[in-house]
Amino acid sequence: MVNGDSVLIIGSGGREHALAWLMAKSDGVGKIYTAPGNPGTKQVGENVNISANDFDALVDFALKKKIDLVITGSESQLGKGIVDIFQKNGINIYGPNQQMAQIEIDKIYGKEIMIKAGISTPQHWIFKDPEAAKAKIMEDPKNTVVKHPSGDMGGKGVHPCATQEEALAEVDKMFEITDTVVIEQFAGEKGVIHEEASCMVICSGLSYIPLLFSQDHKKEGEGDTGSNTGGMGAYAPCEITRGYEDWILEKIVKPTLKVLNGKFFGTLYIALIRNPGDDIWPFQVLEYNARFGDPELQPIATLLDAPNFYQILKTSAQQEDLSNFELKWHPGSAICTVMANKGYPRKDDYYKSLLGTRILGLDDPYFKNPWVTVFHAGSGFNEKGELIVAGGRTLNVTTRGKDIIEAHERCLEALSKIKCDALRYRRDIGYRDIARFKARTGR
Ligand code: GLY
Repeated sequence: MVNGDSVLIIGSGGREHALAWLMAKSDGVGKIYTAPGNPGTKQVGENVNISANDFDALVDFALKKKIDLVITGSESQLGKGIVDIFQKNGINIYGPNQQMAQIEIDKIYGKEIMIKAGISTPQHWIFKDPEAAKAKIMEDPKNTVVKHPSGDMGGKGVHPCATQEEALAEVDKMFEITDTVVIEQFAGEKGVIHEEASCMVICSGLSYIPLLFSQDHKKEGEGDTGSNTGGMGAYAPCEITRGYEDWILEKIVKPTLKVLNGKFFGTLYIALIRNPGDDIWPFQVLEYNARFGDPELQPIATLLDAPNFYQILKTSAQQEDLSNFELKWHPGSAICTVMANKGYPRKDDYYKSLLGTRILGLDDPYFKNPWVTVFHAGSGFNEKGELIVAGGRTLNVTTRGKDIIEAHERCLEALSKIKCDALRYRRDIGYRDIARFKARTGR
């Protein structure tokens, strides 16, 4: 018999491992289950062999085990109404209901909320006709962001194209899978898109608690080149939002929660874009998400010094006020670098041929260092119980340091100890802040 509350986390990615890891560090938590989980979540609790989409079986399990809090990781389940189903069964679940999750799932609705809240966002147009969409692209070289209207695209719904030609081709590809396409102006000059930041806030109606601001690296290649992915790494805190935290909360977070009539419970994730030279709107909003960012949560998790994290999520799930809670943070910076299948993000024959490759090196004493945490995602076990590559984004090597340089050096050191020919990674996560830090300190 384990003392403390029982938690069920739904999902199997790096974010869900980070959530399970945070629960293990929280006061008041006894048993941690993850469904279906991964080799990392197994280190901090018990994996349950139920698919994240089998809501009936998940509810049965939660009732049988008297689960005190369910946490769902991905927008996919939120969009299908998992929160409503658990609530109907009287089970506490952290996250927005199906209607509120539409701020992420329906990108056009998300834009409507921004506009109602008086928030600046790049101009956009909605098209059902490919030729009309192409004409809009040809009107202005800035009209080159091509978006799928659904936010449940596994990070592949938004294509900020470098040229009009690329955007025209993207429109054709997009219309093969949808009947509606959104064209958006990119925020930048001369084909260079401005810098982005992720703002995540734990909400309960109109009360909220912000997490550290972070920056994701969505492109597969170093220097932000190549195809878009679900995220190849992230770091926190990030410099571009420093000094603007209160402005972002006042001008963006609070008006959004108000327009949502205080009915949003869970993580409000706001994708921000810097608007340099504009004093009135130094940041614009690109989109909303309705859950923790992956991989952004991973570096943030290692900076949290918050035994009250479980209590905060449970309070939101119970739709109670969060105003009396505060989160504490370790000083310094954290970087998460994703080790991905060399065939990712294309799920082609090469990708498939690498599945099953063994991953060695995680028993190195370096990984006992408390500043180094490896969150598992698409890893698995073979029949012999050996760790293998079982998906795309496989491991999230996350390191803390007294500053971003130390976090980065530690991350490269940790990465060098993991031996697997099937995996690759970017060595430059955090590169903009690393350069700014070096320029400032002369290091
Ligand atoms: N890292 C981007 C996302 O979670 O949507």
